[in-house]
Amino acid sequence: MKHIFVLFGLSIVTVGCNQSNSNEAYFENQIKELEKKIENAYTPGFGDFMGSIQNHHNKLWFAGINENWELAAFEIHELEEIFEDIENTYPNREETKFIPMIHPGLEAVEKAVSEQNSDIFKSSYQTLTNACNTCHKATKHEFINITIPTAPSYTNQDYKPFSND
Ligand code: HEC
Repeated sequence: MKHIFVLFGLSIVTVGCNQSNSNEAYFENQIKELEKKIENAYTPGFGDFMGSIQNHHNKLWFAGINENWELAAFEIHELEEIFEDIENTYPNREETKFIPMIHPGLEAVEKAVSEQNSDIFKSSYQTLTNACNTCHKATKHEFINITIPTAPSYTNQDYKPFSND
């Protein structure tokens, strides 16, 4: 009888151990799977972010010259967000440390937009565009020369301010 109790006790201990071993194995497996997912997750490259910036830079111009100030403010916000995304995604890239040079240009356009001043919008947009190119030069990409757009990138968006009539 004594033996039976001892055996019973031992088997509880063994079951307990097995359980924690299998829990551990389960979590290890989960961690491995999550690591694999992170490795395979899509991360836009520096150039992909720039392509997106190019698009919002284009839209910002047509929003501004059409005096669609709400859209212009929205596009500036998009640009700010993408520059922030680059800083978060590539904190250690050499090029990232040049990002602050774009802030004065963005702020100048932002001010013109909030004051709804077309003339200042146009001149500050040029300042912003010059800053894009100053950074391209600083990062040895002087062959990427950004200009004031002559046509919208997309034809399926109306840049005029919203009106109910
Ligand atoms: C931090 C410095 C920096 C600033 C500021 C910057 N760029 Fe760039 N840009 C780069 C770098 C670096 C590349 C090359 C990216 C790569 O390695 O693929 C690039 C590439 C580009 C490209 C080429 C992408 C392509 O596929 O053709 C475009 C377009 C571009 N930038 C637009 C802009 C515009 C518009 C602005 C301003 C609103 C701007 N950039 C501001 C650093 C900058």
